[in-house]
Amino acid sequence: MDRLSNRLLDQPMSLLVTGATGKSGKRVVQHLRAKGIAVRAAARPVFDWTDEGTWDAALEGVRAVYVVQLDGTMLVRPFLERAAQHGVRRIVLASGRGLDDPDYAEDTAGVRPGLVDSEAATRASGLEWTITRPGWFAQNFSEGFFAEGIRAGELRLPGGSAAATFVDAEDIAAVVAAALTEDGHSGQVYELSGPHPVTLAEAVATISEAAGREIRYVPLSPEQYVAELVQQGTSPTDAQAFADLFAAIREGKDAHVSDGVRQALGRPPRTFAEFAHATAAEGGWSTG
Ligand SMILES: NC(=O)c1ccc[n+]([C@@H]2O[C@H](COP(=O)([O-])OP(=O)(O)OC[C@H]3O[C@@H](n4cnc5c(N)ncnc54)[C@H](OP(=O)(O)O)[C@@H]3O)[C@@H](O)[C@H]2O)c1
Repeated sequence: MDRLSNRLLDQPMSLLVTGATGKSGKRVVQHLRAKGIAVRAAARPVFDWTDEGTWDAALEGVRAVYVVQLDGTMLVRPFLERAAQHGVRRIVLASGRGLDDPDYAEDTAGVRPGLVDSEAATRASGLEWTITRPGWFAQNFSEGFFAEGIRAGELRLPGGSAAATFVDAEDIAAVVAAALTEDGHSGQVYELSGPHPVTLAEAVATISEAAGREIRYVPLSPEQYVAELVQQGTSPTDAQAFADLFAAIREGKDAHVSDGVRQALGRPPRTFAEFAHATAAEGGWSTG
């Protein structure tokens, strides 16, 4: 362990986790606290990306930061400049798989330019940096925007019959916690996926088995999906943005396996079945 890591462990609150209530951030906080490492968990209203006045208090005394950007903004660059002024030495950035491919997916919501700028700012920051690029999170089924359909027993999505290598946010968090606190991760870009491709139908069948109740996947055309969302009250623009997200899955662009979990941790990533059963054990598939 290097001198920075020793100091990190010695100094309470010298680690800052942004997005600390989100799918990866809250697990990073849990991983660090389980190791006995004190961490400042940044969430609104105390830390707000859109209110620069909240940044200094969050960064006070901090030496390493997990940066989860606010999608659709260009705020990581000024935040990293502020972080360096506060003496931050190490950053781990949450990015996304497919960022090197401008045609990866339609980006109606404007997420890609922010992530491209965040990665560039990270590399140019002069700080020790690690970039994580996860694919689709398995937790989209349990906590994200698939969860409502899973609870209702019918997941209706324009995902076709193609597969994706969904990654467990527990693995993302383990990689981030290691990169924040251990040597050997500086300058690494970790592309993170699960160990094998899983179709949406297979994913739902696995969850159904783990949850012990019938849940089915109903493939929709993008047009059907947009029409259903609009009927449920989503604006046409947002509905189209959601539909566009699925193009990458339909076209098989997220079906490849990436080796980032093994590179960072020396072990394979968790399977989708392991995720589904662990979530069941926590009561995560309950309908209540
Ligand atoms: N989900 C996926 O499948 C996936 C795949 C690849 C990459 N990514 C990327 O990974 C990142 C995190 O995704 P996620 O799914 O973990 O997101 P998430 O679960 O929705 O978490 C977002 C976090 O950002 C916080 N936040 C929102 N607005 C904020 C603001 N104005 N100021 C400060 N914090 C704010 C939220 O806190 P509050 O409690 O305050 O709302 C929450 O902690 C995103 O950049 C996403 O594009 C996601």
